[in-house]
Amino acid sequence: MSVKKAIGLIGCGDHALKNLSPALKKIKEIDLAACADVNDSALDAATELFGYKRKYNDYSTMLAEENLDGVVVSLPHYLLKDAVIESLKNQVHVFVEKPMATNMNDGIAIREAAKENGVGVMVGFCVRYSEGRIKTKTLIEEGAIGEILHVNAVKGGGDLEGLPTRWQSDPSKGGGPLLWLGSHMADQILWIVGEKPTRVHAESVWHERNGTEKKTSYSLRFASGTTATGLCSQDFSTIKGFLGNNIDSVEVFGTAGRIRSQWPSNIVEIFSELREEYRHLTTIHPRSPDNPPMYFSELYSWVRSLLENTGPPVTVEDGINMLQVVDALSESSRSGLPVLMNQD
Ligand SMILES: NC(=O)c1ccc[n+]([C@@H]2O[C@H](COP(=O)([O-])OP(=O)(O)OC[C@H]3O[C@@H](n4cnc5c(N)ncnc54)[C@H](O)[C@@H]3O)[C@@H](O)[C@H]2O)c1
Repeated sequence: MSVKKAIGLIGCGDHALKNLSPALKKIKEIDLAACADVNDSALDAATELFGYKRKYNDYSTMLAEENLDGVVVSLPHYLLKDAVIESLKNQVHVFVEKPMATNMNDGIAIREAAKENGVGVMVGFCVRYSEGRIKTKTLIEEGAIGEILHVNAVKGGGDLEGLPTRWQSDPSKGGGPLLWLGSHMADQILWIVGEKPTRVHAESVWHERNGTEKKTSYSLRFASGTTATGLCSQDFSTIKGFLGNNIDSVEVFGTAGRIRSQWPSNIVEIFSELREEYRHLTTIHPRSPDNPPMYFSELYSWVRSLLENTGPPVTVEDGINMLQVVDALSESSRSGLPVLMNQD
């Protein structure tokens, strides 16, 4: 009988309690050994609702006292890097929520710590595990729309809850839509195109009260000639469609068709000159429109990589590539100039 992996949780806030822990609880191959948070009521909720065996106010003590195989880190953005590096130094594998760190250099520091300590880091780009995006990526890889010419991505919602007091709206704590939502978007574009951009240009409109960017529109150019555009916005609060304030779509134009995928509905629309069944614009409905399978699939893929010792399926390098784009978007939106990168 194989031994269960001992898993710890650092940060028992909204995401950890609503999405991550319900998914972790369903994974039979792990033991929810311990959790850490500075907030007692968050700790109580984690232990009572999900059965984490022991609780700590200080994650350093948890890492020192527990014999963990892996840890899930779900903290405010400005605290992610230190918690990840300390976990790695304790030889614990890490699943870290996006954006992993608040800038590319901190992402590189994480990669070096992972190498030095011989443990892995998976970054929580959960949308890769949504049914609609898996279908989209599979169809593109099968060549259904030919070669990729252009990707357009949109992600946003209304004002972040709790403005202006929560860390999400404080630029000094890694707040703002570009790291909160734009991290998913940039990853989706890079994942679909499969290249790093060589040139990035962005325009931002800034939030009047808290100084974060309220919306950013941008363009990316890749060495192959593929291009991408994006709109990352917390300024959609007047749109109350069936998706409420949660808007996330990716549209890919190819030499032989186009495909568009919405999340969280997971609806995919495709037109393809190459596939008989998609010769007319076709809507592919998901088998399951709800979100939990996405978080379960994501975390289960991490746990399987621990069990099989295969290395994380979404890597620290993926996180660094995303942070390079987000850094460049911020730089370009402030300077008004394009940013060149990955020129060699
Ligand atoms: N992938 C997704 O779908 C998704 C959705 C929401 C949030 N997230 C990510 O999850 C992470 C957490 O976001 P959230 O909305 O849950 O934030 P949150 O503020 O609700 O939770 C953060 C928790 O960290 C705790 N904390 C703060 N400092 C601490 C410390 N030094 N040690 C231990 N605990 C500490 C807080 O008490 C809080 O309980 C972020 O990286 C965010 O981007 C991902």
